[in-house]
Amino acid sequence: MAESVTITDNRTGNTIEIPIQNGGVSAAEWAKLLPDIWFYDPGFMQTAACSSAISYLDGDAGILRYRGYPIEELAERSTYLEVAYLLLHGELPDAEQYERWRHDITYHTFIHENMRKRFMDGFHYDAHPMGMLVSSVAALSTFYDEAKNIFDKDIRYWSTVRLIAKMPTIAACTYRFSVGMPFVYTDNNLGFTANFLRMMFEPREEVAWDNPVLARALDILFILHADHEQNCSTTTMRVVGSSHTDPYTACAAASAGLYGPRHGGANEQVIRMLMEIGSIDQVDDFVKAVKSGKGRLQGFGHRVYKNYDPRAKIIKQTADDVFAVTGRNPLLDIALKLEEVALNDEYFTSRRLYPNVDFYSGLIYQAMGFPLNVFTVLFAIPRTSGWLAHWTEMLDQDSKIARPRQLYIGEPERKYVPMDQRD
Ligand code: ACO
Repeated sequence: MAESVTITDNRTGNTIEIPIQNGGVSAAEWAKLLPDIWFYDPGFMQTAACSSAISYLDGDAGILRYRGYPIEELAERSTYLEVAYLLLHGELPDAEQYERWRHDITYHTFIHENMRKRFMDGFHYDAHPMGMLVSSVAALSTFYDEAKNIFDKDIRYWSTVRLIAKMPTIAACTYRFSVGMPFVYTDNNLGFTANFLRMMFEPREEVAWDNPVLARALDILFILHADHEQNCSTTTMRVVGSSHTDPYTACAAASAGLYGPRHGGANEQVIRMLMEIGSIDQVDDFVKAVKSGKGRLQGFGHRVYKNYDPRAKIIKQTADDVFAVTGRNPLLDIALKLEEVALNDEYFTSRRLYPNVDFYSGLIYQAMGFPLNVFTVLFAIPRTSGWLAHWTEMLDQDSKIARPRQLYIGEPERKYVPMDQRD
């Protein structure tokens, strides 16, 4: 075989040749020779846990495609709802398909009154919106018990529609609750992001929530965040979904994965970091501190991108459009200086650490009027379509329940000692 690896078990002298397919080898082939030998791979650095036809990512070349379409082209020419359809169905919709999709999403944006009044109103007054979102998405499963029938294609479709449609409503609700503002009902005459901006901010006059430039900018940001291969939250979706739980509960688990500062929580941390730096002349000292091991440069680095994150490039253009409406975010100068210093510093270049999607997204969200603690919620809204696309693909592949091996490093067998005899 031209493209293969040969493995010899030195205990027995037995040999097996395993083909290299698509840049990897199959564990099933490996197990034919070595069923008792497993891989130790924390963080899945060298392990592909599934095959997927949704996102293509080349971290060295800085390429991201959804279903074969370059992210740059989708961001320029498409809409978030069209991209959500593409991710889920594998093809761009024709006019009729799109109209049905848009209609179905638009007419499922309402949440049950009990959800808002009884459940969401019960949170503590200063609850973090992301914590509220995680729990509220899980609570949705109690309103749609039929969603457990995950192999019924019709029920699956409506669960998917409901989740994508209700995310912005829940998100706006968490924010308005956290600032003590009354809930605003959805408006079916508005587009996906325009409706969301209205639910968030009406009637705040200092926020340009009804400006179409901001609705389009948010739509682009949603396109950029819709999917990203096997990241932590998407993997969570597939792992939890592999137990055949309902999609609301699986989405809640995926949202929980997104919440952490190493993943979707990073956009909030970037702004906190820029505020802590405070001014351009503090940038050098801050970078020195990071290099000496005091924390990390938030919004920098990526497990897969070892080149500029293509989404970060698009976001920089979107930022200009937004700042033309809202005025320039005063933290932008610090961010630009930080990027310049880091990209010219051997510590960052040798580790191939470049700005990721979150380095600039927070600056845009902040200029638009979103408070910091809503940033990760803004990530969860569009990523829901990616999670559901992976969940659907996984179910159609009839994959096994996720259940990795472990390396046991604990005590060997020992006898139970009664409490009065312990040292
Ligand atoms: N600042 C400073 N040093 C860093 C950073 C950073 N942001 N990221 C990685 N490094 C360094 C590490 O200290 C390590 O150095 P060493 O080899 O001397 O020990 C090396 O680069 C490799 O880092 P790892 O943590 O092994 O890289 P990994 O691929 O596991 O982590 C991650 C990727 C979590 C994204 C990391 O780069 C990070 O913490 N970045 C900051 C948080 C962030 O922006 N997250 C958002 C990611 S994008 C997203 O989820 C949408």
